[in-house]
Amino acid sequence: MCGIVAYLGERQAYPILMKGLKRLEYRGYDSAGVAILDGEMLLYKVKGKVAELVASIGKKKTSGTVGMAHTRWATHGEPNEINAHPHYSPTHNLAIIHNGIIENYVALKKELLKRGYIFQSETDTEVLIHLIEDIKLNERVDLVNAVQIALKQVIGAYAIVVISKDDPDILVAARKSSPLVIGIGKKEFFVASDAAPIIEHTSDVVYLNDEEIAIIQKNKPLKIKTISDIERTPYIEKLELNLSKIEKSGFEHFMLKEIFEQPHSIRDSMRGRLKINEGIVALGGILDYEQKLINARRILIVACGTSWHAGLVGEYLIEELARIPVEVEYASEFRYRKPVINEEDVVIAISQSGETADTLAAIELAKSKGATIIGICNVVGSSIARATHAGSYTHAGPEIGVASTKAFTAQVTILVMLALRLAYKRGTLPMSQFYQLLNELDGIPEKVEKTLLLNDKIKKLAEIFKDSTNALYLGRGYNFPVALEGALKLKEISYIHAEGYPAAEMKHGPIALIDENMPVVVLATNKTIYDKVVTNIQEVKARKGIIIAIVNEGDKTIGEMADYSIEVPETEEIFTPLISTIPLQLFSYHMAVLRGCNVDQPRNLAKSVTVE
Ligand code: AGP
Ligand code: GLU
Repeated sequence: MCGIVAYLGERQAYPILMKGLKRLEYRGYDSAGVAILDGEMLLYKVKGKVAELVASIGKKKTSGTVGMAHTRWATHGEPNEINAHPHYSPTHNLAIIHNGIIENYVALKKELLKRGYIFQSETDTEVLIHLIEDIKLNERVDLVNAVQIALKQVIGAYAIVVISKDDPDILVAARKSSPLVIGIGKKEFFVASDAAPIIEHTSDVVYLNDEEIAIIQKNKPLKIKTISDIERTPYIEKLELNLSKIEKSGFEHFMLKEIFEQPHSIRDSMRGRLKINEGIVALGGILDYEQKLINARRILIVACGTSWHAGLVGEYLIEELARIPVEVEYASEFRYRKPVINEEDVVIAISQSGETADTLAAIELAKSKGATIIGICNVVGSSIARATHAGSYTHAGPEIGVASTKAFTAQVTILVMLALRLAYKRGTLPMSQFYQLLNELDGIPEKVEKTLLLNDKIKKLAEIFKDSTNALYLGRGYNFPVALEGALKLKEISYIHAEGYPAAEMKHGPIALIDENMPVVVLATNKTIYDKVVTNIQEVKARKGIIIAIVNEGDKTIGEMADYSIEVPETEEIFTPLISTIPLQLFSYHMAVLRGCNVDQPRNLAKSVTVE
């Protein structure tokens, strides 16, 4: 999720660590901290920027040649000084910094509380350093073994660095599902979330693999072991990327990086919530208000832009699965149209940034009328998150590109899990179908991964249509919100006028627009109304419209009917938005690049619309 930098060598660590954090600022974060060993452990941390951390340290002691620093993107616990990293162990002999999510931290914390441990923060990270020290002291093992034993008990994603006052000449780093790079210099080592803080010091790097631990010691070669204590030979690679490329993980733009992050971000949004082995799905953040949702007279979803499109998917999901009436409202309209709201209503506010003014105002209006407010946000501690009674964070990680991509699929994933949970609790879904859907949902990240392999084919398609002046996106059922989202993506980054429409609505007017110059993107992965979609395609073709069809793998019927077809992995109809959105994101990205547009910062747009 966010930023890690560590140093062990002969130079003063502090300036290297601070510059390293600056190199990671592009990732977005809410707080920062540093710990340095110099006979004692110096530890400073703030809510806010790296510059504020440096200012708060001022002339305080920062000497020492071993240390680590962190920028936090909160997942568990508000962004504040106490929750910022590094976190001390109970004796303050150890400290940890961490990127990722420990899914089973509640169970681990419960056990540690029983043993009398006290916690300062609300984070999952602090639980891990308590566990490591508990093992180190009670099983009388060394630091590395304690980390190995602890990590074998952890479920979730982690990139960590641990330092110890008792072992001042060692850094222990480990990772699983969250990246970590080791830089090897002359008599010095660097650890970081990506190579950006390392590249100016050395181009010799080792990329840690999942469940590997790096043992970094003064005057000793780098040692790598697995958490099961199997020695691994470090594979040293030469860094070839420049700084700008590193920040984007080698991608040209943040938007493309974030499109390709979706298998991970969708998996992260399910962490600790979808428990396949136990056959359950639960959103911990709203458990206290679940009964309100179950008994709701209706659910109102308020949002803007892409988040509104996710909300529309949510309407279809919750009504079909849980049989609760749902209305989706543009927050900007809802807040002024004098809506009828009462205490039996539940409002779900969806927002990536958590700072959208219209959505915030809609929440305040609904709250003033007694409604229960549930949030689905990506930024922990954001204004919208704090304004709601309860909520679920999407855990998509920082979304830097103005055009929302991974946040959309993460929002839809939360809504899918919510709809399944409500259906389960209300008994509106046969258990066999419930379990089938859980299993299919668990496999979605892999299907998204497979869909991303279409990138080159979609780039070629964009080369054909890059000079278009208009485009239509048509979809039915769950693909109707996807059509709206695809049109918005194209509009906002390539500046081509595009409209999303329910496919069957074409004959009520818009079909007059169709001619041989109009590319028509048709989302045709539906099953229940497949024949209707075929009819809609034929209506467009009869007027010489150019059809770009998104179809299920192997669908030759529409494939042969369309001028161009993109085959995506098949999935349950209710999950299609998670798959059929991907080619549209890629298509709009390549169209924008081919048109020389500023993909990450499109004209006239802001990442977060904090004004009316
Ligand atoms: C989406 O690509 C746009 N950047 C925009 O529509 C965005 O979704 C909208 O402004 C809502 O933002 P939020 O999710 O942060 O509330
Ligand atoms: N889950 C940890 C926290 O909330 C780490 C977050 C991060 O990756 O920055 O503090």
